[in-house]
Amino acid sequence: MPPSSHPNIQTDVDLSRLNTLGLTARASHFTAITALADLQAVQNDAALRSLPWHVLGGGSNLVLPAVVQGLTLKVEAPGRRLVGEDEHAVYVAAGGGETWHDFVQWTLAQGWGGLENLSLIPGTVGAAPIQNIGAYGVEVKDTLFELTAWHLQTGEKRVFSNAECRFAYRDSLFKREEAGRWLIAEVMFRLPKRPTLHTEYGEIDSELAAALLPRTPGGIAQAVINVRRRKLPDPAVIGNAGSFFKNPIVSLAVREALFAEYPKLVSYPVDGGAYKLAAGWLIDQAGWKGKQLGPVGMYEKQALVLVNHGGAVQADVAALTAAVQADVRTKFGVVLEPEPVWW
Ligand code: EPU
Repeated sequence: MPPSSHPNIQTDVDLSRLNTLGLTARASHFTAITALADLQAVQNDAALRSLPWHVLGGGSNLVLPAVVQGLTLKVEAPGRRLVGEDEHAVYVAAGGGETWHDFVQWTLAQGWGGLENLSLIPGTVGAAPIQNIGAYGVEVKDTLFELTAWHLQTGEKRVFSNAECRFAYRDSLFKREEAGRWLIAEVMFRLPKRPTLHTEYGEIDSELAAALLPRTPGGIAQAVINVRRRKLPDPAVIGNAGSFFKNPIVSLAVREALFAEYPKLVSYPVDGGAYKLAAGWLIDQAGWKGKQLGPVGMYEKQALVLVNHGGAVQADVAALTAAVQADVRTKFGVVLEPEPVWW
């Protein structure tokens, strides 16, 4: 076995700036991972191996406890590269630690479309596939070709094809059966040379017209940025983790019964004859838009976004989650499921 390098471990590290909700949280043990060798060094240390491990990306989809017991591995794997191209597409890859939005902007600057609808989503490239990030009619699964992950226990390096990631709405293998087992080190995208533009999401079409933006990937990116800046709070200003609940999927029968009682119900047909309900609308109608419980609340411009007005801890988020879920269940009979991951 090659001589192992000594992992650089910090103790009692402040995580409040490493989670976009801005929750007060500390890591008992913390290390940055930029290369497989860093992970192997940690794996070779018996004391560190005995701790529970947590993989941290941009911290934009996380509800952290006051103290994260165990070893927090902050993914910092860097790099963006053109892997190759064929007649129809370019293949580009980025390190798991790259900032998602910067990577999207870089692809657009090279003239490669495909990711424009996913502009301005907080977080890292490595975290994007875990919950299959999506916005304005596009999901990461639509262009992800494959990804490379390192097994946390064994250090095995494995390539997962798009199909192997088992993507679903805000979900993948890495959030379900393989949760907590892999560190996503690199993600490769296949970006078509003639991308299909997605402007069917109403707000994007109207923003293109209102701001006189061209119907190009760059124009759409700017429209998405404008709409997001108007509706969603900037985590640098007010702590939040984007949409806090998933849009619930219900049967046609449930949707019809609700629609009969609430003709303004916002719903969209999805595969298999089911319907997705707008959780933001349900929460808004249940009276939670702009309302606070302790130091947290539901955002005044988008009821689906839980915001930290300052000094919140995980228990505050749990209390508001339960209160919103209870009111929506009582009024509509629908159970809302939180979108972020809770440590
Ligand atoms: N609505 C209300 N009141 C509100 C919020 C929303 O009535 O307070 C209504 C809106 O008027 C609209 C409908 O609910 O008719 C849907 O709202 P919106 O278009 O803002 O989208 P969303 O369903 O709330 C989803 C994603 C977002 C993504 C947008 C745009 C989920 C959980 N959220 O939000 O993703 O940006 O669509 O595609 O699927 C994220 O996941 O963090 C995220 C921001």
